[in-house]
Amino acid sequence: MQSLGARTLDWLEDAIVMVDQTRLPGSFETIRISNVPDLVAAIRRLSVRGAPAIGVAGGFGVALAARRCGTGNTAFDDAVQTIRMARPTAVNLAKMVDRVAAAAVRGPDAALEEALAVRDEEIIASELMGIRGADLVSELSFGRSAYRILTICNTGGLASVERGTALAVVQTLHERAALEETLVLETRPLLQGARLTTWELQRMGAPNRLVVDGAGPYLISIGIVDAVLAGADRIAANGDTANKIGTFSLALAAQHAGVPFIVVAPESTIDMATASGDDIEIEYRDGQEVISFGGAMTTPNNTEAINPAFDLTPSGLITAIVTDQRVVRLDQGESLSSV
Ligand code: MRU
Repeated sequence: MQSLGARTLDWLEDAIVMVDQTRLPGSFETIRISNVPDLVAAIRRLSVRGAPAIGVAGGFGVALAARRCGTGNTAFDDAVQTIRMARPTAVNLAKMVDRVAAAAVRGPDAALEEALAVRDEEIIASELMGIRGADLVSELSFGRSAYRILTICNTGGLASVERGTALAVVQTLHERAALEETLVLETRPLLQGARLTTWELQRMGAPNRLVVDGAGPYLISIGIVDAVLAGADRIAANGDTANKIGTFSLALAAQHAGVPFIVVAPESTIDMATASGDDIEIEYRDGQEVISFGGAMTTPNNTEAINPAFDLTPSGLITAIVTDQRVVRLDQGESLSSV
């Protein structure tokens, strides 16, 4: 099998190849996916995860379906719908599936060409978000030479194709020798912060410390954080943002402490068809993820759990939304439709 290089997922030798994120940090393994049911299962169990990454995976999935069943028939349409509905909150998945399915009208080769374009655009977007976000952090924390960033979940190359969203900003700051440290929230229950973000930061040699989720608001309140950087799974037209559960409490704490709260996401995560956060479907995952870890129970038998995977941060708590194309200063009265 060809190497993925720096990429988290790619199209190689007529199949999708991806890093299996459920195995990290214990082992680095790639999986090869050559049919739609396997792709849908991989998205649902979070082998591939993060809004831009599942968008790219979904696009490749449509290309895969077009090659396996042809286009313009029920089998293809059913496959497209199954991929589209694998996870509900990140708009990138539905958007990219629809985009590649529209191209598939011109045949399987056109579908693959479009899916590869989606991949390439996300790679460029990550680079640009890193630059714009790092510039904004420097502007907002004027006077410091190196910044202390707090972040949640995993928003690095693993959540995208390369570099990522919020973590691309951290990486750019580090490359500019302007990163003092990153405080990484564990991100229960599946520990994307503890397992994946620390792994990525260590690989890039960027200073970081891990904190339990509940410590985030406190650490913001005591003045050791210059900016909170979060990714997004869907940004509604009014700026309300769905992101990993726990993000909302960080935004509340940031506003209380006067610390910038910055959302970093590609334009592909903005959903102008959704008016506000009230209209965003939040994924609820199996309670089993909360009451056990690594197959071992962590609670008494018969414990019930509720497991929302995401929460909603109202636009009023967000200082700025940084995309690959613009910086929208919500704190200065700008909006997604005005900039
Ligand atoms: O459930 P996950 O791991 O897919 O959740 C991912 C996040 O919430 C990320 O913060 C978001 O997708 C933005 S990442 C580039």
